Amino acid sequence: MKLSVHFLVAVAVIPSASCFVPTAASRSTSSLKVSVGGTSQLTPPKKVEDLSDSSEDLYNQNVQTTYGRYKLTIDSGKGCFLKTTDGKNYLDCVSGIATCALGHNNEFLTKAIENQMKKVHHVSNLYFIPEQAALANWLCTNSGADKAFFCNSGAEANEAAIKVARRYAYNRGIEKPVIISAEKSFHGRTLAALSATQQPKYHKGFGFGGEMVPGFDSCVYNDIASLEAAVERATSDGKGLAAIMLEPLQGEGGIIPGNPEFFAKARELCDKHGALLMIDEVQAGMGRTGTLWGHENLNVIPDVFTSAKALGGGVPIGAMMARGEAATTFGPGDHASTYGGNPLACAAGLAVAQYLYDNNVLENVQARGEQLSQGLEKLAEKYPTVLGQVRGWGLLKGVECIAEDITAGELVAAAMNEGLLLVPAGANVVRFVPPLIISEEEMNMALERFEAAVKSKAN
Ligand SMILES: Cc1ncc(COP(=O)(O)O)c(C=O)c1O
Repeated sequence: MKLSVHFLVAVAVIPSASCFVPTAASRSTSSLKVSVGGTSQLTPPKKVEDLSDSSEDLYNQNVQTTYGRYKLTIDSGKGCFLKTTDGKNYLDCVSGIATCALGHNNEFLTKAIENQMKKVHHVSNLYFIPEQAALANWLCTNSGADKAFFCNSGAEANEAAIKVARRYAYNRGIEKPVIISAEKSFHGRTLAALSATQQPKYHKGFGFGGEMVPGFDSCVYNDIASLEAAVERATSDGKGLAAIMLEPLQGEGGIIPGNPEFFAKARELCDKHGALLMIDEVQAGMGRTGTLWGHENLNVIPDVFTSAKALGGGVPIGAMMARGEAATTFGPGDHASTYGGNPLACAAGLAVAQYLYDNNVLENVQARGEQLSQGLEKLAEKYPTVLGQVRGWGLLKGVECIAEDITAGELVAAAMNEGLLLVPAGANVVRFVPPLIISEEEMNMALERFEAAVKSKAN
């Protein structure tokens, strides 16, 4: 296969992806790298070990620019540490954004995946999959849910939840079902999950006449009066309340924990209107908050909750868990996923579950979470012009960056210079989401490195 020079030149002169308007020439087949209708000869893929420092260029040439990436290329890891191609070690308090619960290169997880690969890794949901049954059983036994539906990501799990809510409402005669979600929420990037995500900046340019997927309304998170007003709107003009969909703790919105009274009111309103209370546990679930599910901190039982991220410890898997009638709302053919719940992903999920159980990981999350809060609060006292409120549960914590001239992103970059990986949340919060297995010594190291970063910015 020959790389077309014409194509590369065309890309090189485009100033930015956002202002690229396809012209007849740019759409013409003359820029194609393969012959249309002919027999093309394959080229072999590049060997990753040969790329060394050139992978960044390869990205820019070949990968769509949907992410602003830090200038780090990570090629290995162990436990809570990641190593870059230039030989630097970083203490990882991001864990793939709350995903690698067991850290990196965990032997137990690796063995489980290896064993499953040697047996069978994918067969399709045309057949029974024992690993899927076992993982569904563990999830149901360790929550209020009765049945699981498996998919591959958080957004997909939320799409499944949205579809369940609509069908459940339809079965009750509601033709205009409304799902209420909260301002500053984040539920994923697929179109309906994005419509539930009440952050206008993510909607720009994806609407139809400015409208996203219809049937979503919003309320202010933790504000009972605002929720009641939204329910009022959702039950007027021929509409009906299908569901209230909330994160137990808003992660991407800036580490904002839910308020138990607000969730109790949401439960009450759902019961009153025959609607579903749906909790998005994609970031908070699977032990991250010190309890297996974030909603346990709120003392509320959802009808539906979703999980992904840590569920497979970094192997893609998502689940939509439902109880009562919601668990039998879908019938054969109503929803599906080619990969969802395949033997490999479920073997990973089972290994994560077993590891959490065998190693008292939830206790570690509680102890390390407390250590992190205390350490961050001390730093906030010491650097009052830079650090503000410390928020969150367990190992899902954030500290506000209140300095006028420093952004959370800049603090994250400064931490990176000190060998610590962190991630911003919302506009001005620095988020700590380390692997759930982080030790006391590693947490002290994280706090020391963070202090060095804050100091470098405070001066
Ligand atoms: C609460 C929540 N829901 C859904 C998602 C989307 O998950 P995914 O990126 O796996 O689609 C995220 C991702 O950050 C999340 O934090």
